[in-house]
Formats: sequence, structure tokens, C-alpha cells
Amino acid sequence: MTDKPMLLDPGMDLTLRPMRYPDFYERYRAAIRNTWTVEEVDLGSDLADLARLTPEERHLVNRLVAFFATGDSIVANNLVLNLYKHLNAPEARLYLSRQLFEEAVHVQFYLTLLDTYLPDADERARAFAAIEHIPSIRAKAEFCFRWIGSIDTLDRLDGPADRRAFLLNLICFAACIEGLFFYGAFAYVYWLRSRGLLNGLASGTNWVFRDESMHMSFAFAVVDTVREEEPELFDAGLTADVTRMLEEAVDVELAFARDLCGDGLPGMSADAMRRYLEYVADQRLARLGMPVRYGAENPFAFMDLQDVQELSNFFERRVSAYQIGVAGSVAFDEAF
Ligand SMILES: [Fe+2]
Ligand SMILES: [Fe+2]
Repeated sequence: MTDKPMLLDPGMDLTLRPMRYPDFYERYRAAIRNTWTVEEVDLGSDLADLARLTPEERHLVNRLVAFFATGDSIVANNLVLNLYKHLNAPEARLYLSRQLFEEAVHVQFYLTLLDTYLPDADERARAFAAIEHIPSIRAKAEFCFRWIGSIDTLDRLDGPADRRAFLLNLICFAACIEGLFFYGAFAYVYWLRSRGLLNGLASGTNWVFRDESMHMSFAFAVVDTVREEEPELFDAGLTADVTRMLEEAVDVELAFARDLCGDGLPGMSADAMRRYLEYVADQRLARLGMPVRYGAENPFAFMDLQDVQELSNFFERRVSAYQIGVAGSVAFDEAF
């Protein structure tokens, strides 16, 4: 502990100069350079693909969009209820404000997606109510709600116990929800694209994927900062809690995979998805400086290609970005 104010100290710091955490401000600026709108994404070509899906593929797509219907709203709620309250630096709160806007764009994107994919009003309403009646989606939502509830009555982080509870919430949303549930969902999208299906969904997902990578990267930068300021919070108990949380997230997402994949589809199965989730969980643990849990390899070659694809889209996008007046240099960050 030092006498300098720390990121998790309670209060409402308003001082931007001198700036304590310029990296957070640069992340805010980088996010603004990455602005995109739902109206730019053309979902029209997906309709012909939807009409030729097999019943098993159609089931997978319907379940997937039903998860998307509420996923980003849950993240946005935690951001407002739990993260903004406790990250006591204006530059960190600038980033969170921008992230909240991006989550709103994601919610709008998936709203538009469901409106396009599910023209029948009853079917659409059922998809938006999925967390109430589809058990595999309900289990994911309950996992999220439990972690939102774990600190939503904490008004101040006064001692180590409160601060560890905050770190667990932050790590849960970055590593398990944005960094695992969403990555699993994106893997289905890119698997479909690898088979020439639903390119509209994949093109919008490229933008969401990049945003989520940046959200996760910011959260991990916050963890790094807290570790520098208060290393005593990072004890064996925290590592054990994070590892257990990720194990549970893998199990919950695997149940979703079993629901989506049934007995398996060409190039996609619950078993392959289990290995992918274990691989991703290991990556999250490694990023947090914690021992890996599974020793798994990435079974999905189409996800390795994703980074390259994203990069080329990113540069194509710069052309139209300049046209709408968003200027600035292209920054490479760890999202690639
Ligand atoms: Fe999002
Ligand atoms: Fe996010």
C-alpha cells in the first residue's frame, strides 16, 4: 500500500491532469477510432442461406441468436451497476463510457439480426425470452446474474475482502463472459462462414469481436494496475477462485454446446467446442498470470484465420471511416 490514491480507492476522482493512467485514456481514443454502425452491416444475403439450412443447422442458428438477444444487455448492466462505481479514475470511466456505447451498438446489432432472421412475431418473442425457457441459455444468464449480484450491494471497496470480490466480478465478465461465452458464440459464427453460410452475420461479428477483444484487454489492464498497486490482493485464494469460476463457465458453455450441436454437425461438435473452450480458458488464465488448467490446443483452424481476416477488414474499414470524418492513426494493440 502507498499513500498515492489507488484505482480501487472509494471516491469520485475528477482530476485528468496530471493523468494517473494515460493507458486507459489511449484505449478510449483507440476505441473511438474503431467506430462502426449497425446500418453498415448487410444482413440481406443471409436470408437465402437461412432458407437452405438443414434442420440441425437451423436449430443451432436459432439457439445462437437467442443467446445473442440478451448477452450484451447483461454485460452493459454489470458495467453500470458494478464496474463504473468502483474504478475511481476519470480516464478509466471515460473508457467505460465508451464501452457502454459499444455494448449498446451490440444490442442494436443483435436486435436487427433477430428482426431479420425471425420474421414471425411469436418466434421472435420466444427468442427474446430465451433466458426464461431455454435451460442452456438460462444457465448462462444465471451464472452472469450470480456474479452481478455478488457485489451489487457494495457501495465502497473498503478492505481486501471487498477488493477481491470486485476483482472476481471484473475477471468474471472479462474472462468468462466476454472472453469465453462470447468467444464460443463467435466460433459458431465463423464455423458457419467457413462453410459459406451467413456472411452478413460474420461481417457484423468481425466488429463485435474486435470490440469485445478490446473490452477484455481493458479489463485485464485494470487487473494489472491493481496488481501493481495492491499485490497482496493476488493470493493463492484468488487464483483458486478464478480457476474454479472458469471451470464453471466452461461447463455452462459446454451444456450450451451440447444443446446447439446435438449429435454433431460437419466440422462442429460439442466435443470440439469443449476443447476450444478449454483452450480459451487456458489463455485467459495465462493472461492473468495464473497456471493453465487444461493444456488444451485450439481445434478450430477457422478461428486461427480470424485474426488475419479481422485485420484486413480493419484496414478496408479505414477508408469509409475517414469518409465519415473519424481521423487518427491506426493503433495496433494486443487485440490482434
Ligand atoms: Fe458486447
Ligand atoms: Fe463487451
